Amino acid sequence: MNAALVIVAAVARNRVIGGDNRLLWRLSSDLRRFKALTLGKPLIMGRKTFESIGEPLPGRQSIVLTRDHTWSHPGVLVAHDLLQALDLGGETAAVTGASDIIIAGGADLYAQTIGIADRMHITEVDLSPPGDSFFPEIGPRWKEVARESFPAGPQDEAAFAFVDYEPN
Ligand SMILES: NC(=O)c1ccc[n+]([C@@H]2O[C@H](COP(=O)([O-])OP(=O)(O)OC[C@H]3O[C@@H](n4cnc5c(N)ncnc54)[C@H](OP(=O)(O)O)[C@@H]3O)[C@@H](O)[C@H]2O)c1
Repeated sequence: MNAALVIVAAVARNRVIGGDNRLLWRLSSDLRRFKALTLGKPLIMGRKTFESIGEPLPGRQSIVLTRDHTWSHPGVLVAHDLLQALDLGGETAAVTGASDIIIAGGADLYAQTIGIADRMHITEVDLSPPGDSFFPEIGPRWKEVARESFPAGPQDEAAFAFVDYEPN
């Protein structure tokens, strides 16, 4: 069975996802959910997002997209176009038995995959910070299939909702 292509993102009310190549909020609840959704699965991300994290996340094979053929990082698989990244994700999932290939951002990657992904797990963050990276418009291709809203926990800067989408 082919692995599903799954977008995971935390998105502010104004669709901002980051600024100056970093996250703009502290939301421990969302980090826990990100870990639960992604552990054991290949993570595809843009080179800028990888560099903002700095290291591969443990327990997940990172696949980093870059057009720079000299770029490398220990423990990371490098892809030079989206198809190659998806192929590497599929091969990794087949070897490890993972059900999903995760698209972990940033804006560039979300824009390239929102038209082909099989599922989205969006954390709606109840903030509208100034930023320079945006999640694309969630168009009519998608329907909301689940929503859970939460007040800010002790280590969260804002209230948030976990919202799942599937294609119509
Ligand atoms: N809130 C969230 O859930 C979330 C999640 C992830 C990231 N973010 C935020 O998003 C921001 C970064 O997003 P971004 O759009 O600036 O950058 P990005 O998507 O992380 O990375 C863009 C880079 O990826 C490479 N790339 C993209 N598409 C490619 C393709 N088809 N073929 C080859 N290489 C490709 C290019 O790297 P080269 O320039 O090396 O060629 C490009 O410059 C940061 O602020 C980060 O904190 C937020």
